[in-house]
Amino acid sequence: MRITSDSDHLPLGDNKASAWYGRHILKVGQFTREDVDQVHGVAAEMQRMVQRTGGCDLLKGKILANMFYEPSTRTSCSFMAAMQRLGGQVIPINEAKSSSVAKGESIIDTAVTLGCYADVMVIRNPTVGSADLAAANAGIPVLNAGDGVGEHPTQALLDTFTMRQELGKLDGLTVTLVGDLKNGRTVHSLARLLTKFDGVKLNYVAPEILRMPQDVVDEVAAAGVQQDMYEELAPVLADTDVLYVTRIQKERFATPEDYEKVKGVFVIAPETLTGAKDDMIVMHPLPRVNEITVEVDADPRAAYFRQMEYGMYVRMALLALVLGRA
Ligand code: CP
Repeated sequence: MRITSDSDHLPLGDNKASAWYGRHILKVGQFTREDVDQVHGVAAEMQRMVQRTGGCDLLKGKILANMFYEPSTRTSCSFMAAMQRLGGQVIPINEAKSSSVAKGESIIDTAVTLGCYADVMVIRNPTVGSADLAAANAGIPVLNAGDGVGEHPTQALLDTFTMRQELGKLDGLTVTLVGDLKNGRTVHSLARLLTKFDGVKLNYVAPEILRMPQDVVDEVAAAGVQQDMYEELAPVLADTDVLYVTRIQKERFATPEDYEKVKGVFVIAPETLTGAKDDMIVMHPLPRVNEITVEVDADPRAAYFRQMEYGMYVRMALLALVLGRA
């Protein structure tokens, strides 16, 4: 695909023959390796285009309904920026209390409503399976921006894009996931997506009560990927190519006392990284609370702010693909 801001070369219409046209993005299990490669290829073109011209008219005339029932900065804003950089428009619904959801309207009715006004919908909701419900009823492509402790597939696509752009490959990487692996939907999606690549090794570092859920472990094992569990980071740090740190998700604990027991269990500081490779990277889906100290930000291996930017290019690619314009 060539992207251009030159009006002589604007696309004439939607490519309905594309396998991506009208596709929902709900969970990473729907992707083949070729799909991931294609999204990353388009994202890389989006990155070059934004760096060259800032934006284009690829999605002119298209409208995104951006529906967030849970707080978000990166996912919400990067989808809005993605749509606007491609010349489209956005209906932002950032607080459920400002919509008829506050009056008791169901996800189904809300999805049907937004399907009348928009061409594509992004939804974040605290209930696992909520995006599937919206997708079954909206009549437009629905992109899951996080369904409770379920999945965050666009984050996994941007996480893998980050690894590819920063390290030049995905095959053969040793990826260490640290923190709240029980409640962190980003790591559920990322572990599953990494099974599409050859020779990836996964380390899970978490206290016992925050371990990776068994269904994710079973899926990854069925794909033949090596997984090892630890309660400390030290044994695996030296071999790690990607240190993926996550926030302890306070909002998902049954009681404040349970949260207090594990709060601050892993804190990455400059001295933590002294035994790490020179060419490894530190990632975090963000927001961080205190699990990476601000002193780490100056380390060139700290890739988490660059990761946010890669996310916009991946979301530009996804919007263009599902709307048949890539
Ligand atoms: N990574 C991520 O989902 O961030 P937000 O919660 O800010 O969208």
